[in-house]
Amino acid sequence: MNNFIFSYPTKVYFGKGCVKEYLACLTRPYNTVMLAYGGGSIKKNGVYDEVTGILAAEGKTVVEFSGIMPNPTYAKVQEGAKLAREKSVDFILAVGGGSTIDCCKIVAAQAVEDQDIWTMEMEKRDMPDHFLPMGAIVTVSGTGSEMNSGAVITNGEKKIKCGMLGASNAFALLDPGYTMSVPFRQVISGAFDTLSHAMETYFGRPQNRNNLSDDINEAIMRGVIANIRKLLAEPDDYEARSELMWASAMAENGILKIGKITDFQCHQMEHQLGAYTDCNHGAGLAVLHPVYYRHIYKDGLFKFKRFATEVWGTDPEGKSDEEVAAAGVEALADFIREIGLPTTLRELGVDDSTDLGAVAASCNIAPGSCKKMSHAEIARIFQEAK
Ligand code: NZQ
Ligand code: ZN
Repeated sequence: MNNFIFSYPTKVYFGKGCVKEYLACLTRPYNTVMLAYGGGSIKKNGVYDEVTGILAAEGKTVVEFSGIMPNPTYAKVQEGAKLAREKSVDFILAVGGGSTIDCCKIVAAQAVEDQDIWTMEMEKRDMPDHFLPMGAIVTVSGTGSEMNSGAVITNGEKKIKCGMLGASNAFALLDPGYTMSVPFRQVISGAFDTLSHAMETYFGRPQNRNNLSDDINEAIMRGVIANIRKLLAEPDDYEARSELMWASAMAENGILKIGKITDFQCHQMEHQLGAYTDCNHGAGLAVLHPVYYRHIYKDGLFKFKRFATEVWGTDPEGKSDEEVAAAGVEALADFIREIGLPTTLRELGVDDSTDLGAVAASCNIAPGSCKKMSHAEIARIFQEAK
């Protein structure tokens, strides 16, 4: 196994009623709490009333930072940081999904940093090491953002959507019941995002060595597939939602990456597609994954074959390695159709006015899990995904 260091800064509280039970105690050391949220779903489903009730009972000064959009922008980060400074916020409470949590992670950095954080991170490659403390209440699962310090931010001016380093949550409260009001399409695209994180990690290097991370990963992938199917049959299945919520955190909390080098090339492509089109993240990944994997599986036959047999149950009997590996990729494509996610860019809502050549040219090229991409090959992938 590759050398590694593992430590975990986020304390997770999981289950029905966890906000009511723990939020007061967790925020007790702070006076001025920034309550950050998105477009208002928390006002419709009762979460806002529950959280503000707890904070009011504790005598907190609450500063609201609302309107954080899906695919949060750098401009929104700056708005939040300015507000945090003006109101002397000493704790940020992010209530939402990946978008709200990610935005807050960078607000937490910018609020205590005089330099422009984008210039510092992206141009000077100088990473922040001090932050306002923050915690998260997760209302929609999929990204696993609550358990890592990465934040995906869209810089509208530069047309770049990319990962930045931000604050880690001191705590994360995960009540699967909170996800019941999430639009079902978002539930499924979020769960697919989790599957994507697992796959992108699984195909990272090394590929053909005995590796505990990959064994755990296979269990997560099988669980996500099975629980998406359960939810399709019974959308309010609490157990299935619980499993998906924990799988989401597990897929992005670093455990699956232990001893591995991962590059998330499909994410790099989807992020730039998002920068140009503002598409839904999980749905964008669903369109790109099979096409991308058809380009790389022959360079990673050992792992793609294992993916086919261990995750999709492909019977290898009488088939060549290449046939088994290809069958795994096609099983993934069939699954995406089965669960109703888009399979083409058109279905995703990307019309002909989008300059796919420019999107492809702007993608980050990762070192490559099985095969290193070129911008020309990424351009072909976008064309084939049309
Ligand atoms: O904004 P509101 O009104 O809250 O509505 C949201 C939003 O429209 C809604 N929603 C959330 N909880 C709800 C709810 N609606 C009803 N009931 C609830 N309980 O769901 C919509 C999507 O929310 P969003 O936070 O955008 O979704 P998600 O968690 O999928 O986050 C996507 C963002 O995370 C980034 C993505 O690129 C994208 O920007 N990612 C972050 C990662 C990370 N930090 O580790 C990794 C991922 O690969 C990903 O890139
Ligand atoms: Zn993702």
